[in-house]
Amino acid sequence: MNNLLQNLTNVGKKILTESGVNDAINEAKIIIKKTLKRTELEFITYPNQEITSKQRKLILRNLIERTKGRPISKIFGFKEFFSNEFVVNKNVLDPRPETELLVELAIKEFFELRERKVSLLELGVGSGCVIISILLSIKKNKVSALGVDISDKALSVADKNIKKFKLEKSLKLKKSDWFSNVRGKFDIIVSNPPYVRTSEIEKLDKEVKLYDPFIALNGGLRGLGCFEKIAREAKCHLQENGIILLEIGFGQINSVKKIFEKMGYKTFLKEKDLQGIIRVVGFKLKKTLKVKAKVLTSNF
Ligand SMILES: C[S@@+](CC[C@H](N)C(=O)[O-])C[C@H]1O[C@@H](n2cnc3c(N)ncnc32)[C@H](O)[C@@H]1O
Repeated sequence: MNNLLQNLTNVGKKILTESGVNDAINEAKIIIKKTLKRTELEFITYPNQEITSKQRKLILRNLIERTKGRPISKIFGFKEFFSNEFVVNKNVLDPRPETELLVELAIKEFFELRERKVSLLELGVGSGCVIISILLSIKKNKVSALGVDISDKALSVADKNIKKFKLEKSLKLKKSDWFSNVRGKFDIIVSNPPYVRTSEIEKLDKEVKLYDPFIALNGGLRGLGCFEKIAREAKCHLQENGIILLEIGFGQINSVKKIFEKMGYKTFLKEKDLQGIIRVVGFKLKKTLKVKAKVLTSNF
């Protein structure tokens, strides 16, 4: 193997193809670009550029990591989500494109509330990609936000991202087992809880089962355990007319609706992702449906 960029790309493609990576050529290019810290333009403009043997070794090391199933985001410690780059590591779920729908819908709800100061809670904040993306899209003085997670290690990644995006003033973090350490009521609660059946985790791609934390995936026997807990406890933490928006898994809509409706909520929103799967569901408490919204501040 020689040290020309173009040749390295072909070698990378071969290595990744042989290990079963689907989009081998694209992934090889990304690994090379990221290792060399090159832009797309530099990469295209100088395909015959020589690189040092140290750089070649680094590229090879990263390609080999990828053949073991480690996603590119977890090799380099960054993942793009909602047009921003978030710090990630093995202690947080890799932000998923389908979760951007939850962000979009939450932002829409914020705009419905217009002039009010809004209190926002995210349960299972992970890297912070969801709540931070929401905050970056709205006026920060209009919101007080809290993100909770049961994992200290995930909270420390979320903290890095809060600093990266300079949101220390508007977003606080707390360790909490769902609502166990949460005080006060919120206008908007969002969550992408773990919803994979325990028995299914072993069958997931190695990128997921080996590199996403078990605690971020495991939804228990039927994949619905977290929804049951959240439904039970959210009642005491919703403002009048408050809403809860949840990401759900493939085929879970009827079960999740049933859990929430049995506990006194009304489904007001069901939204499909780009694959046509109902991915986000929204609930309100039944008795507050017709109550006029009051200006309330959070007290967490
Ligand atoms: C599917 S991940 C979502 C992470 C992030 N919000 C995202 O969408 O990328 C679920 C998160 O819930 C957290 N979690 C699991 N059980 C929890 C519990 N009992 N209380 C609070 N958070 C929990 C996990 O640590 C993980 O960060």
